[in-house]
Amino acid sequence: MGRRFVDQRRRDRYYRAAQREGLRSRAAFKLAHLAGRFPIFAVGDRVLDLGAAPGGWSIVARDLVGPRGSVVAVDPRRIEPVEGIHVVHGRVGDLNLPARLGPARFDAVLSDMSPSISGAYATDHARSVDLVRGAFALAQEVLRPGGSFVAKVFAGDLVDDLVAQLAPSFARLARTKPPASRAGSSEIYLVGLGFRGGRPAPVATPDPPATAMSRVPSHI
Ligand SMILES: C[S@@+](CC[C@H](N)C(=O)[O-])C[C@H]1O[C@@H](n2cnc3c(N)ncnc32)[C@H](O)[C@@H]1O
Repeated sequence: MGRRFVDQRRRDRYYRAAQREGLRSRAAFKLAHLAGRFPIFAVGDRVLDLGAAPGGWSIVARDLVGPRGSVVAVDPRRIEPVEGIHVVHGRVGDLNLPARLGPARFDAVLSDMSPSISGAYATDHARSVDLVRGAFALAQEVLRPGGSFVAKVFAGDLVDDLVAQLAPSFARLARTKPPASRAGSSEIYLVGLGFRGGRPAPVATPDPPATAMSRVPSHI
């Protein structure tokens, strides 16, 4: 870790507050601000936190939904066990992830997922948009109608298309930057409220009527 980074971090009030309050990450304050500004959670809610390591958002969500609520935290990185948070070691995009989350729907799906940074901004931006698309695809399977969706994305020219893809699925979709997000950082947050419901189940199509060519003689 570079000396400048360490000095900057010491001066950062959100980092110091996170250390003091046992919040695991300064990112926790971003969710706390978002939840103060938008009605993302209610007491008793069931929350899915994608890209949850080291666990800052999950702890904030757990405290907001209270003991009657629950939080499922997903990440390929290890998350130290925390009371009241169920950890699923996995990755958004894995085909078996939805089955591992159980049959009950979630009231809120959160994604603070970040791609591994390549250093080429256009690549990192595109990867971050793909992560939001992955989170949204999963939300379409597991989020209850009326539920909330929050996702981080790196700002850039693909965001307008992303918003246009997501917006019809929500009563309201906002783009915002919480104060705890560093001024120089390119991240913004999309907050979708009032989910309109997931993909309709595929309609079972009846077998086409047998044609003379395809009809199989019954004696074969
Ligand atoms: C900025 S950190 C999240 C910080 C967290 N919200 C907190 O408050 O502690 C981003 C996380 O996204 C995770 N991530 C990246 N791609 C992912 C994927 N496909 N599925 C799940 N997690 C992913 C990374 O492993 C990393 O832990």
